[in-house]
Amino acid sequence: MPKILDGAAIAAAIKQEVGEEVRALAGEGIRPGLAAVLVGHVAASEIYVRSKVQACAELGIYSDLITPAATVTTEEMLDLVGALNARDDIDGILIQLPLPAQVDTKALLDAVAPEKDVDGFHPVNAGRLLSGRPALAPCTPAGVIEILKRSHIPIAGQHAVVVGRSDIVGKPVALLLLHENATVTICHSKTRDLGAITRQADILVAAIGRPGFITPGMVRPGATLIDVGINRLTTREEFDRFFAGDAKREATFAKRGSTIVGDIDPKAYGISGAYTPVPGGVGLLTIAMLMANTVRAAKMRRGL
Ligand SMILES: NC(=O)c1ccc[n+]([C@@H]2O[C@H](COP(=O)([O-])OP(=O)(O)OC[C@H]3O[C@@H](n4cnc5c(N)ncnc54)[C@H](OP(=O)(O)O)[C@@H]3O)[C@@H](O)[C@H]2O)c1
Repeated sequence: MPKILDGAAIAAAIKQEVGEEVRALAGEGIRPGLAAVLVGHVAASEIYVRSKVQACAELGIYSDLITPAATVTTEEMLDLVGALNARDDIDGILIQLPLPAQVDTKALLDAVAPEKDVDGFHPVNAGRLLSGRPALAPCTPAGVIEILKRSHIPIAGQHAVVVGRSDIVGKPVALLLLHENATVTICHSKTRDLGAITRQADILVAAIGRPGFITPGMVRPGATLIDVGINRLTTREEFDRFFAGDAKREATFAKRGSTIVGDIDPKAYGISGAYTPVPGGVGLLTIAMLMANTVRAAKMRRGL
């Protein structure tokens, strides 16, 4: 039977450790602080940011939710980021993406002080990660490594195949796996005979953004499957493609009118050695790692 890699339990353990660190810092008169910038009213972004602010409250991290209007300009956002960079009560700055089209997202992410870049998106942190220096690593990729390590899945010497090469997930997860001494192959939309490569994977990381893209035939029996994908299914046809006959999913679908599936077809789970479910896997680690990065930033900024 494949092992289910329980994102909820791992995220809870990380949050507990972070909470202990926050309490220890409080003893020294330090309260880590996170500024969360949420522009406009994107429903998914509002849900994500609310969860992040709530996690701060649970762990004793100070949070400041800033909500500029959807009409905000790049200049106004740059001023805001400049002010947050200068604030001593703020250790981490989170700018929830996507931003409205009129805002220059790259210019804004580049304006965040690297030592407060808890999302790990600043080129300085990307460079530090590449060159193996201490860095604030992007939260979701860092969460993938936590899942593997805390589940005692060996990484060193294993062939890790990462499908996807985004700056946010694919590239940093590949680098982190490399730093853990995996042999890493990165695949993307121009990769020839993708299945022949994914079938060589001891650890297969899917960060593609396409529902159930990795089929059972693309998986080596016994491989560890790490599914970063979050894809919402809204039609009956899509639902039936993955979950026909699944009573639990059927109930969710009936209640909410949608359900989510990862980038790995759930039919592949059965031949794996271990897998992260969707939901309940990698997704839950992102906020836990954001909290960990905020505390890390607070300590690093003070030379602790
Ligand atoms: N908290 C979380 O759990 C979390 C966080 C971030 C993202 N996600 C999810 O992770 C998934 C990926 O996110 P992302 O931001 O990395 O997406 P992205 O920026 O759209 O990148 C997708 C990657 O997949 C590759 N790809 C697309 N079609 C392919 C194909 N047919 N064959 C092989 N590779 C293909 C693309 O290749 P090219 O580069 O050649 O175009 C690209 O590198 C999404 O489902 C997203 O929702 C989850």
